[in-house]
Amino acid sequence: MKHFLDIHKTSQAELRSMIDTAKAVKTARQGQPKGMLDTDKPLDGHMVALIFEKPSTRTRVSFDVGVRQMGGQTMVLSGKDMQLGHGETIADTARVLSRYVDLIMIRTFEEETLLEMAEHASVPVINGLTDRTHPCQIMADVMTFEEQRGPIAGKKVVWSGDGNNVCASFLHAAGQFGFDFTFTGPSTLDPEQEWVNFARKQGVNVSIERDPVKAVTGADLVVTDTWVSMHDPESAKERRHNQLRPYQINAELMRHANDDALFMHCLPAHRNDEATSEVMDGPHSVIFEEAENRLHAQKAIMRWCLGK
Ligand code: CP
Ligand code: NVA
Repeated sequence: MKHFLDIHKTSQAELRSMIDTAKAVKTARQGQPKGMLDTDKPLDGHMVALIFEKPSTRTRVSFDVGVRQMGGQTMVLSGKDMQLGHGETIADTARVLSRYVDLIMIRTFEEETLLEMAEHASVPVINGLTDRTHPCQIMADVMTFEEQRGPIAGKKVVWSGDGNNVCASFLHAAGQFGFDFTFTGPSTLDPEQEWVNFARKQGVNVSIERDPVKAVTGADLVVTDTWVSMHDPESAKERRHNQLRPYQINAELMRHANDDALFMHCLPAHRNDEATSEVMDGPHSVIFEEAENRLHAQKAIMRWCLGK
């Protein structure tokens, strides 16, 4: 069973082939109306369940559109409205859904929910974000970097802010795609040591640097994300804002990165908190390219899961 659960759990060769497929499927559709089917319709006759236990704009729409473009059908399910939200076990849900659909994408809270779904489903399961990781996003981000600047291997990527789920998948990608990674932020919001160790074991440089100016110096890519994630308690908001303000990506900080550095944010953003509008809408920014590439990258992931 080819589940797409995380970047560090997928081989480098498979990840690379997914990026290649994503680029090819994007090129093949260039200039076509979004509602038109792909010529080879690889998901013809396939039904895909998209389960959301948290809000989503990009993941929801890009998966839904992607499946339809590939000739398949979707059902978007809210965790709250399913028996899952009323005490039915994940294992039973996985077994039942596997009788109706060919593929399951789930966005959830606990990583354990995703893993249990994958363990008990007899169809592939895709991680659409958990509290711990967000692999589909970073596949789109690697694709975006390479479209703009060529191979990401050997480049310097700097993450500024909260060492959250998106940061975690970036660390996995650093190890698998071979780029150096610097985290800058307060020590209380460091990325998980397990992910730092994973990337280091793969042979890439991972630095933790408290000074954002030093961190960003020489960067090829500067990335940030919301200061308060969907799984964080609202009560953490004020403290996090105070702690993270020095790590805001603004034009002054970007000046220390390489001249041709890119700026990324997975969105949704809180403009003028983690990044200024000047940077988000400025010449370094590729935030909407990232959003578009979710569609193409996930189509490649779904093809891989289904052996298409
Ligand atoms: N970046 C991302 O996953 O966005 P959504 O929460 O809108 O899906
Ligand atoms: N870190 C954010 C990412 C949203 C796509 C969150 O988990 O809320």
